[in-house]
Order: sequence, then C-alpha cells, then structure tokens
Amino acid sequence: MITLISIALLSLSLVESLDPVFISDDTSRITVTTEQAKIITARGANATLPCRLDRDIEDAFGGTNMRIKWTKLSPDYSKEIDVLVSMGFHKKTYGDFQGRVYLQEADENDASLVFSEIRLEDFGKYKCEVIDGMDDATDVVSLELEGVVFPYSPRLGRYNLNFHDAKKACKDQDATVASFDQLYDAWKGGFDWCNAGWLNDGSVQYPITTPRGPCGGNNTAPGLRNYGLRDKDRSLYDVFCFTSNFTGRFYYINSNINGTKFTYDEAIQACHEEGAEIAKVGQMFAAWKLLGYDQCDAGWLADGSVRYPISNPRRRCSPTEAAVRFVGFPDKKHRLFGAYCFQPFY
Ligand SMILES: *[C@@H]1O[C@H](CO)[C@@H](O)[C@H](O)[C@H]1NC(C)=O
Ligand SMILES: *[C@@H]1O[C@H](CO)[C@@H](O)[C@H](O)[C@H]1NC(C)=O
Ligand SMILES: *[C@@H]1O[C@H](CO)[C@@H](O)[C@H](O)[C@H]1NC(C)=O
Ligand SMILES: *[C@@H]1O[C@H](CO)[C@@H](O)[C@H](O)[C@H]1NC(C)=O
Repeated sequence: MITLISIALLSLSLVESLDPVFISDDTSRITVTTEQAKIITARGANATLPCRLDRDIEDAFGGTNMRIKWTKLSPDYSKEIDVLVSMGFHKKTYGDFQGRVYLQEADENDASLVFSEIRLEDFGKYKCEVIDGMDDATDVVSLELEGVVFPYSPRLGRYNLNFHDAKKACKDQDATVASFDQLYDAWKGGFDWCNAGWLNDGSVQYPITTPRGPCGGNNTAPGLRNYGLRDKDRSLYDVFCFTSNFTGRFYYINSNINGTKFTYDEAIQACHEEGAEIAKVGQMFAAWKLLGYDQCDAGWLADGSVRYPISNPRRRCSPTEAAVRFVGFPDKKHRLFGAYCFQPFY
C-alpha cells in the first residue's frame, strides 16, 4: 500500500515536471481563489491559508482524481518547495512542514491549508494548485508575520558577514534573515539605517527615510537603497534580521545581592540561577517593539553586546526616538552592566 502511494506521488511529480505549472490553460473548467491575498499572523500562532475550488461543471466522479498541491515559493521565486500533496485519502507533507500542516477540507471545494505553530521561516508566498484530469488551476497567497526588523553586525564589526554567516547570525539572535517585504514595511514605519545588510533573497540593501550625503546622497528620494544580488560566499555586509512574538518572559537584573554589576560570565550565571537564559538580541527587539518594553539600563546580551530598550524617549535614555540603544561589545571582563534574561514558557 505504501509502495503504491509513493509510486503515485512519483508519477505525479514526473507529470508535473513536464508540464510548466505557471502556464494557465484558458480552457480549464476549474479555478481556485484565495479570498484574501494576504494572511497576517505571528510566531507560535495557528493560521489558515484559504484556497477554494470553483468548478464549471458537475463532476460525475466527485473529484476522486483531484489532486491538491501546496508549494512555497523560494525567497527569490526561482524554486517551489513542496509543502503538501493530496490525492483523495492520500496525503503527504514534506520537510519542515511535516506534522504541522493539513488540509482543512470543510467541504469538497475547500483546499485551504491549516498551519499550526507558525515559525519565523514560514513567512512567504504559497501556491495552491488543483489538478483535476486535464484541468489545472493555481493561485498564490502570502503569509506574513507581525514582528520587527533589526540590523545586526557581530563583535568583529561592520561588514563582516557573508550570506551564510548572516543566516547564522540571525538564527543565533532568535531571528531569521528579513525579506524585502519585511524591510520595506519597516522602512514605511520610519526605519532608517545607513549600513547595507543582506536580505533573504541574497540581495544587499538599506532603508533611508532621511536622505543624506553618506547614505546615497543628499538629493535622492527616500527609499530602500539596493546593491543588488551579491556573491553569497565572498561579499561581506551586515544583515537585517526579522523576529516575531516569543513565548516567554524578558526581564532585566540590575546587579547581584550586594549591588555589584556583572561581567559577561556573571550575567550568564545570574540569569541561569533564576532558571532563565541570557537574552538574545532578537528577544530584546521583540520585547521592545511588540510589548513596549522600556528599561534605561545597559545590560549584557547573549552575543556579548550591551544594549537597552527605550519605548518612551526621555533625557539621558534615548532623547529623540524610541529605539534599542547599542552600547557596544565591551570587554567581557568589565563589571559594569546589568543582565537581560529570557525565561521561555513551555
Ligand atoms: C503577538 O504579540 C502582540 C503584542 O504583544 C499581540 O498583540 C499579539 O496578539 C501576539 N500574537 C500572537 C499570535 O501571539
Ligand atoms: C493550534 O492548534 C493546535 C491543534 O492543531 C492546538 O493544540 C493549539 O492549542 C493551537 N494553538 C493556538 C495558539 O491556538
Ligand atoms: C550634502 O549636504 C551637506 C550639508 O548640507 C553638505 O555639507 C554636503 O556637501 C552635501 N553633499 C553633497 C554631495 O551634495
Ligand atoms: C556579597 O557580599 C558578601 C560579604 O562581603 C560575600 O560574602 C558574598 O559572596 C557576596 N555575594 C555575591 C553574590 O557577590
């Protein structure tokens, strides 16, 4: 039985590879619609990507041969990544999607995809395709996450990350490399940053709201400055990371019981003694942006940087704007700072 299913799936993919999926057939008697082109959700949530089938004709066989296929478009739209294939009772999910997606099938024309426990990497464009005999119909729906984009450069300093390092750097900070759309939304929200960083499509860009000399010129329009696609192995830049809701508690410890500040190692230890971990940069940005966290005290973070989040701008904290303030990557032995901790909820 299992062998039969895999042969059926194999022949399905063979047929499809001979038949370019983006060529639409005007004579098709079926169409699909995704109602809302865009679904906005958050990390940890469940979400449904709608897809409905319309048939011109009564299908005498009740669509028993109908195949439903969901794929995800890669960040540069050059590839399709398999998510789920369904033929009657036979369903298969792929890769990271295994066990997290299923078809809603509220009625016989419902091809909606239900996601549980949305992850940061799930954002992107998904294609719903229905194949019924000779008929084939597709539509695309976009899954977006609410969250925050932040620029990142490591202890080594500015422009030290190739694309692969950039992916790891974001992951280590509880984030993922931002997409063009995410950076663009952040720019519309006022984000201005004059260092170029990787995006997940392999391009390098930076957002400017206040044009000025060193950031593309005085007499240029505000916008995303685009260096284009760069060599993923050899080009070195910063990165724009994206993170979304977390399930946990983010908090600050000022000092030990004697009022003494921490070295980096003592900060790790202090969080640990409370059953928490030293917080990651992405967690500070998420707490600041999504929860309005405000603490005018510089504290260690997991990457060895020292920062503090300000939501209510005020004198001596961050007078002109709400921001996560960056103090630097001080000597880890300096006993000068507090600690930011993160305690996950399980
Ligand atoms: C994400 O966080 C924001 C801010 O706390 C909250 O309004 C929203 O409901 C959260 N979403 C999910 C799915 O947890
Ligand atoms: C998501 O769905 C699963 C079942 O598939 C359920 O157990 C879980 O509570 C849901 N989570 C949220 C945040 O609604
Ligand atoms: C940009 O403006 C600054 C200050 O107004 C000026 O000093 C500088 O020469 C200008 N640069 C260019 C390239 O126009
Ligand atoms: C606090 O001070 C007391 C007395 O000086 C010392 O014994 C103790 O080890 C100190 N605790 C910490 C956490 O530094």
